[in-house]
Amino acid sequence: MFKLSMTLAAAVLLAAPQISLAGEAKPARTELERGRYLVQIAGCNDCHTPGYAASDGKVAEREWLTGDQLGWQGPWGTTYAANLRAYFSRVSEAEWLQTARTASYRPPMPSPILRDMADEDLRALYRFVRTLGPAGEAAPAYVPPGREPIGPVVRFPMPPG
Ligand code: HEC
Repeated sequence: MFKLSMTLAAAVLLAAPQISLAGEAKPARTELERGRYLVQIAGCNDCHTPGYAASDGKVAEREWLTGDQLGWQGPWGTTYAANLRAYFSRVSEAEWLQTARTASYRPPMPSPILRDMADEDLRALYRFVRTLGPAGEAAPAYVPPGREPIGPVVRFPMPPG
């Protein structure tokens, strides 16, 4: 009996923060955790956070998603992973949901991930990045095919055929 009531007490305690946050404009802690989790497992950090992939993820959260100077060069020209901290501070949540649904960026941005993501996940991701706030510089501008970019690039091979 004692054990059961302890379990119940623990369950009530765990549920309490969510109940008290419901109805407030501030995103629930669980939603922010989900947003952080999605940023981690959907690979956003791998390209949008400088040094993340190379350091096996050892980059402080305050530096996440600040964009990268590394160019990705292929038949599409040279692209740079954008500063998402700046991007999300510019767009509204409604604009983000609409943009993600029809996302079609140049490679190697995995646009299908955004198109296929559920609305609630897109929202959680957006709200998490917004809580980090804007930081960092703008990533270099896109360079069209045939023009040489300044700075390091990863070169993709030409497609066969
Ligand atoms: C393999 C590398 C890679 C991964 C992984 C990646 N991105 Fe990107 N992303 C890019 C590149 C490169 C661009 C620039 C594309 C262009 O110039 O068209 C970009 C552009 C974007 C843009 C457009 C920003 C703007 O200023 O218009 C958004 C939004 C974005 N990415 C979100 C995400 C999110 C969210 C994730 C995780 C789900 C993610 N990206 C994962 C490489 C990546």
